[in-house]
Amino acid sequence: MPASVSTRPGNALNGRVQVPGDKSISHRALILGALAEGETRIEGLLESADVLCTAEAVRDLGARVERRSDGAWRVVGRPGGLAEPEDVIDCGNSGTAARLLMGLVGGAGVTATFTGDGSLRRRPMDRVLTPLRQMGVEAIATHRGGLPLTLRGAPSPSPLRYEMPTASAQVKSAILLAGLGAEGATEIHEPRPSRDHTEKMLKALGADLQIEESADGGRTIRLTGGARLKARDVAVPSDPSSAVFPLVAALIAPGSDVLVENVLVNPLRAGLFQTLQEMGAQLTFENQRTSGGEEIADIRAQTSPLKAGAPPAARAPSMIDEYPILSVAAAFADGETVLGGVGELRHKETDRIAAMCEGLAQCGVATEQGEDWMRVRGRGAPPQGGGRIDAQEDHRIAMSFLVLGLSAQTPVTVDGAETIATSFPSFFETMERLGARFAKPSDGASA
Ligand code: S3P
Repeated sequence: MPASVSTRPGNALNGRVQVPGDKSISHRALILGALAEGETRIEGLLESADVLCTAEAVRDLGARVERRSDGAWRVVGRPGGLAEPEDVIDCGNSGTAARLLMGLVGGAGVTATFTGDGSLRRRPMDRVLTPLRQMGVEAIATHRGGLPLTLRGAPSPSPLRYEMPTASAQVKSAILLAGLGAEGATEIHEPRPSRDHTEKMLKALGADLQIEESADGGRTIRLTGGARLKARDVAVPSDPSSAVFPLVAALIAPGSDVLVENVLVNPLRAGLFQTLQEMGAQLTFENQRTSGGEEIADIRAQTSPLKAGAPPAARAPSMIDEYPILSVAAAFADGETVLGGVGELRHKETDRIAAMCEGLAQCGVATEQGEDWMRVRGRGAPPQGGGRIDAQEDHRIAMSFLVLGLSAQTPVTVDGAETIATSFPSFFETMERLGARFAKPSDGASA
């Protein structure tokens, strides 16, 4: 993966591609496979740096994890109890790995130390430590509350009733994983529904879990601990959070028509598609089906004149990873796009509100920001481009500005583009197959 990449703007994108497996489902398939009785065969696992950290961690915790061929993995669980890892668990760049594995370790009565890269060490972990401590997990963290930190899991975690202050699938999943070891019912209320892959998989493996929609627009999840989980095979659909890059690139590049196959369209992940359609995007969902309890479709995007959007704050959890690429679409749209209720973006791989506003400004796009909102002023025409963007160890910042740069008036350069390998290792190959052109130092071109 090249470190510095410049775009060569001006090409239409055309064709049919696949993008790699869903990151959230991949992490969960490995983690729940480690707890289940029997063998979990996984097809289509995302083999990116983030997910490989989780694979390594569950192996260190005593599960048998084997790679059979591209995307085909096998996990043999240790339902009788996990092993204590011999070394530090390195979660790399992955917040999902760190937080879910903390829940796993917390409920399993083992002791483990977690660390990660510079970006992950700056991210807040107190959101997971607070509920885990209430369940009896001991945590030794610095005053900052981030990684590195050590957890001593509770041999018999206390069931917890927990009111989540913000919607977070990572926090919810950590509590559920710890709650599996508790004697009694753990109850979590989330203010807005966040992605529900953990709940779906737990149910499929035989856990006693109920979900109730609450009158305030949130959800209550109730899990009774102690159930024996039975391994089930997992076919991982393609990641909508990766599919959005070729799809948005097609919407803004004149003369484009792109189809991405087999994409997960779980409604709790599909907020961006709805928002883009409200902005006038020609997006069509073909061959809709359900597989392994998840909704899937082939998604087609054709070049579209876009108008400004204003997705409601309540939709944020269903598109939380998509704001960087949405703000790129907004830069091409006609009018001012207002993104409200997005304070969580400040706690992602980097502060995504700041990173997008600064990068867009460098590309000639006017923006404004506040603590939990940002605005992007589009002119209904390609922006100037020309920016030199530091990816800041954030794969989605890197890919978003490369997509902008493919249709801007002048090339955009992204430094630190190797971070793309955390979620979408085949990004350049996929985009180039559709007709995108990049200048990379490894091609002998100047970047
Ligand atoms: C994820 C949940 C989201 C998302 C992340 C993946 C998951 O984080 O941003 O990329 O797999 O549970 P939060 O739950 O913290 O919002």
